[in-house]
Amino acid sequence: MNQEFNLRQQGLPAEMQMLLNTYPRSTWEAHPGFREKTKNWLGAHNMFRQLGGIIRSETERFLDKSRSVDDFSARIAHYGDMMVRNLHGHHSWEDYAYFPELAAADPRFEAGLEILEKDHHELDVVLESFARSANRVIQLSELDEKQAYEESGSLHHIAKTIEAFLERHLGDEEELAVPIILHHRLRG
Ligand SMILES: [Fe+2]
Ligand SMILES: [Fe+2]
Repeated sequence: MNQEFNLRQQGLPAEMQMLLNTYPRSTWEAHPGFREKTKNWLGAHNMFRQLGGIIRSETERFLDKSRSVDDFSARIAHYGDMMVRNLHGHHSWEDYAYFPELAAADPRFEAGLEILEKDHHELDVVLESFARSANRVIQLSELDEKQAYEESGSLHHIAKTIEAFLERHLGDEEELAVPIILHHRLRG
């Protein structure tokens, strides 16, 4: 049976969008406060979106038998490790450095930052399940291809969960953080 996760479905509260109304996404690129550090941070988010998509679709390729078990196991080891390690590093930095910097600049948004920090903890639970399931698939790929295939059904459920969760979390985080950065001219 597929494991259920406790992930946030709703967007951030409306009052967290008061600066977003002044600095909508379409205006960021042209704003003089939109600098390298912020672009790099958004670039990391895009890498996570891509990795989530690759891992989900690679699992589908194995399940529809267009990838061999060895090929799939090598790819899932490579991309899975890259996604889990980089997300952990990214979240730790946000929790300990980035969010406190944003909250100090504009305490009106602390409630939103707390929701995002809680997302990181919920996502950790999902990433742990992902790592366990991916490791089982990798081990089983050497021992029993049929079992590796069965385990990949669970892995696919987890991969879809991660992809949907990243869509929710990264989008909300960008739309909370970037307007604060532009308004207060941080990270320039
Ligand atoms: Fe985050
Ligand atoms: Fe982030």
